[in-house]
Amino acid sequence: MSLDNLLIENTMLGHTSFDNRAVVAPMTRVSTNGDGIPTDQMAAYYRRYAEGGFGLIIAEGTYTDRFFSQGYPNQPGITTDEQQAGWQKVVAAVHDAGGKIFLQLMHAGALSQHLSNTRGPSSVPPMRHMLEGYSKKQGRFPLPQAMNPSEIDDVIDGFITSANRAVQAGFDGVEIHGANGYLLDQFLTDYSNTREDQYGGSLENRCRLGVEIVKAVKEAVSNSCVVGIRLSQGKVNDFDYLWPGGIEDGKVIFALLKKAGADYIHFASEGQGFDHGCLTRDGKSLPRLARDITGLPVIANGGLHNLQEANRILSNGHSDLIAIGTGALANPDWPKKIRDQEKIRPFNPDMFSEGVTVSRQFDWESRQMNGKDKADDAA
Ligand SMILES: Cc1cc2nc3c(=O)[nH]c(=O)nc-3n(C[C@H](O)[C@H](O)[C@H](O)COP(=O)(O)O)c2cc1C
Repeated sequence: MSLDNLLIENTMLGHTSFDNRAVVAPMTRVSTNGDGIPTDQMAAYYRRYAEGGFGLIIAEGTYTDRFFSQGYPNQPGITTDEQQAGWQKVVAAVHDAGGKIFLQLMHAGALSQHLSNTRGPSSVPPMRHMLEGYSKKQGRFPLPQAMNPSEIDDVIDGFITSANRAVQAGFDGVEIHGANGYLLDQFLTDYSNTREDQYGGSLENRCRLGVEIVKAVKEAVSNSCVVGIRLSQGKVNDFDYLWPGGIEDGKVIFALLKKAGADYIHFASEGQGFDHGCLTRDGKSLPRLARDITGLPVIANGGLHNLQEANRILSNGHSDLIAIGTGALANPDWPKKIRDQEKIRPFNPDMFSEGVTVSRQFDWESRQMNGKDKADDAA
């Protein structure tokens, strides 16, 4: 498939069809007022992407239980009626503008920058430092306690309950966050999972929690709710990590997720483009492998706002859809711009110089506009 078809060809995930193959990647914006309730401003923010022509928006990583899942202060949750009602407004705004929206369900595990008393698969110190801009807390992550069996059950219940709430809020689907170093990825990764029970040891065991969650969520929600999973090799605290078994790991992981009932697989690469995070050490494409061995639709990510790159990924069969992160922040109307052959604005990290929230972004954008207006007046 060439890029010419990207915007005009519709596509299916599960039983749901989408107008085109351009997806907004999930992006945490820590924009609630401390209560985890999505705000009207967030509804306006997500609506813009639908108006801009994206076939699908995957809303930011949202915490799933009141125990140990929350990653960041002001992160949205979907654990109470009030949070659910806030999301319902977001969904209504997107649907009203003709878009479709999934919710990413996230458990931060040992990478929580919100809790002091954290849980992970094992009591292993997380690598590197907390993310800047997402919390006042900075520095090393606390040492997590290893989850006991009843805490693992709570995690699974949290995903089921929050997926049910997402359906009630009107979401078209949910994406299980299995990527970027958060809880499910901590279980998958050998250095953060040293357990000796059925959730540790072999690759199959380390996949078990993610697989059980996909299966349980799929069984809990109706057929009209799409259930996918996001995976990555790299982590927010270990960008260059690659799956040690490369393609062989991929074969096991993808087959288990297909068997569990996943409707799609989303493969992410953060920061340095598709090749950096989506290829194995010997240059094999994990998203393409996922497509080949499961027959499921695959979303690829990593620098794909770049037209040439997007064209290469789609036409070489690496994926069926492309997810755009920073490029969408800079161009909420990216698909329209492509269709109308307008210039794509580069992402300017200065957008986050005063914080990563939606309100800081809107302030920054209006300062840019005012600066531009003044420059236009002077010209
Ligand atoms: C502000 C910001 C927040 C992010 N939050 C999430 C998140 O909640 N869940 C997730 O899976 N990835 C998250 N990511 C990663 C993006 O989804 C995406 O993988 C990354 O930006 C690379 O894509 P790009 O090259 O198109 O920007 C975030 C990225 C950014 C810039």
